[in-house]
Amino acid sequence: MLAASFEDKLENMMDLQISEKVALVTGASVGIGYSICEELAANGVHLVMIARRKEQLEMAAAKLNQKYGVKTLAIAGDVAFPDFPQRAVAQALEAFSSIDLLVNNAGRAHMGGVLTASEEDWYSMTDVKFSAMRRFCLAAIPAMQKKGWGRIVNISSIGGIYPNPKLTVSHALSAAINNLTKSLALDVAADGILVNAVGVGAVATDNMTNNMIPKYRVSHPELNDKTDEELSAMIGREKTPVGHFGQPEDIAAIAAFLLSGRNNFVTGHTVEASGGADRFM
Ligand SMILES: NC(=O)c1ccc[n+]([C@@H]2O[C@H](COP(=O)([O-])OP(=O)(O)OC[C@H]3O[C@@H](n4cnc5c(N)ncnc54)[C@H](OP(=O)(O)O)[C@@H]3O)[C@@H](O)[C@H]2O)c1
Repeated sequence: MLAASFEDKLENMMDLQISEKVALVTGASVGIGYSICEELAANGVHLVMIARRKEQLEMAAAKLNQKYGVKTLAIAGDVAFPDFPQRAVAQALEAFSSIDLLVNNAGRAHMGGVLTASEEDWYSMTDVKFSAMRRFCLAAIPAMQKKGWGRIVNISSIGGIYPNPKLTVSHALSAAINNLTKSLALDVAADGILVNAVGVGAVATDNMTNNMIPKYRVSHPELNDKTDEELSAMIGREKTPVGHFGQPEDIAAIAAFLLSGRNNFVTGHTVEASGGADRFM
């Protein structure tokens, strides 16, 4: 039985036709991943939520369970460990008997160019962003094939399409994610499984603004009387054609549609979700 708040909300929402399905979301405790979980929970989807920091993750899962009445399972762990995706999917299947929706979102940005990124930077970022995504897909797809229905969304960066040389590692891996998304979509299209990517532009998560604002203060000492919120709004206006940064909820809305039963024909696509910006910052 879903909470009253969800039923009230439904009246004003497109029915995404995913109520009672099960989603596994990586990087689910905060930021974009948490917002995707909330959007899915508001649509009656049960959640398997993954991130490293256990306490924060469990709090996030409990919050969504209480607010929307959906079942939530928190699995704390590092997606970069090669056997973790298989183990997490097995645990999810034991708890829920199916995984219908998969969101590969865990990760972070890496500042550095081709000439400055170290060997270790490349390996560690590849493990978290690209290898984990491939392993979660391999682990979850057989259950989707058995049901003849599934939806996968891979979160990449707008830099996968329009690279910024200051973020080479993140952006090259995003291009690889978009490319693999296309190939995988064709591999599983006949099984009723749709696979898409969202190429994310500048989205004001806490981590993004906590990183960006101190650097901006150093390079613009004349603006030091401004609050963090004022600076964030200024930079958003300056860097984004729509005049503001994206919010995690903006990405969640796109992901929810791609993951939904209302999407029956979009697959292998990378959605540019960047407020019109053709470069990341
Ligand atoms: N925000 C943006 O402007 C932006 C732009 C382009 C692309 N993106 C991409 O969008 C995704 C989400 O970004 P965000 O801004 O929402 O990030 P965020 O606020 O930093 O959240 C990242 C989430 O991933 C988890 N995580 C990180 N590394 C992990 C690992 N190795 N194993 C398991 N969980 C891990 C974090 O929890 P723990 O730390 O507890 O593990 C957290 O739940 C990332 O892939 C990012 O590269 C974001």
